[in-house]
Amino acid sequence: MQDTINFIRSKIGDFKPELAIVLGSGLGAFCDNLEGIRIPYADITGFAPSKVKGHKGELLFCEIHSKKAVIMQGRFHFYEGHSLSATTYPIKVFKKLGVDKIIITNAAGSLKKELTPGSIMLIEDHINFMGSNPLIGENDETLGTRFPDMNDLYSKRLRDIVKTCADKLNIELKYGIYSALSGPSYETPAEVRMLALLGASATGMSTVPEAIVAKYCSMEVLGISLITNYAAGLSDVAPNHKEVVEMGKIAGAKLCELLDETIKLI
Ligand code: HPA
Repeated sequence: MQDTINFIRSKIGDFKPELAIVLGSGLGAFCDNLEGIRIPYADITGFAPSKVKGHKGELLFCEIHSKKAVIMQGRFHFYEGHSLSATTYPIKVFKKLGVDKIIITNAAGSLKKELTPGSIMLIEDHINFMGSNPLIGENDETLGTRFPDMNDLYSKRLRDIVKTCADKLNIELKYGIYSALSGPSYETPAEVRMLALLGASATGMSTVPEAIVAKYCSMEVLGISLITNYAAGLSDVAPNHKEVVEMGKIAGAKLCELLDETIKLI
């Protein structure tokens, strides 16, 4: 960890980010026009290169509306073969750099007919179906406690700010529970019915490990799902990566606008 921090510090000097943003599939456009210091994951000690199409794989340190931020363009996924601990390593690094608020975005499949593709869903809570937990292993007491509480993981304060911004921009918001499975296979229709029965609204393959670690590190967490498709069995079209990336780009523009407005107020 100290090597990672030293390396990043050698690039950014005494820049102290307060906000981290994790961009999901198709949302990379958010930082296309931002100026700042870009560091490819492949250069960073302790980071592994991201391998999925549609994900870039770099950190961007920049100022947005005079907020100092670090943006993850592309993330590490469990299904790529990274451990959950490696997947969430950047979150711990952000904490050490001074970050106390994080916005985690993802592309997700809808589990309910009324949650239509193209919707923006604020995550109210999650269900971890990945079969593991990112905090397994020796605990670093400088980051958080051994048995962290997961109440109010997704900040109500931040959700209310997003709502205010969405109203101003005339953007409709949905709310729901995000469920995460490991992937990389999409869910079966039976799994989709099970997740919906258990109270989840959307499903994906990310976010939950990062959110657990962020909460453990006492960060304020905002989770946003871009609903890119109906999950298996809910439509005639089988979930596929092309559709996820394409809808991510189309509806992603709306989410980028909302993020920009939200950052002014948080
Ligand atoms: N299932 C799982 N992950 C996803 C989906 C889906 O339908 N869409 C986008 N990410």
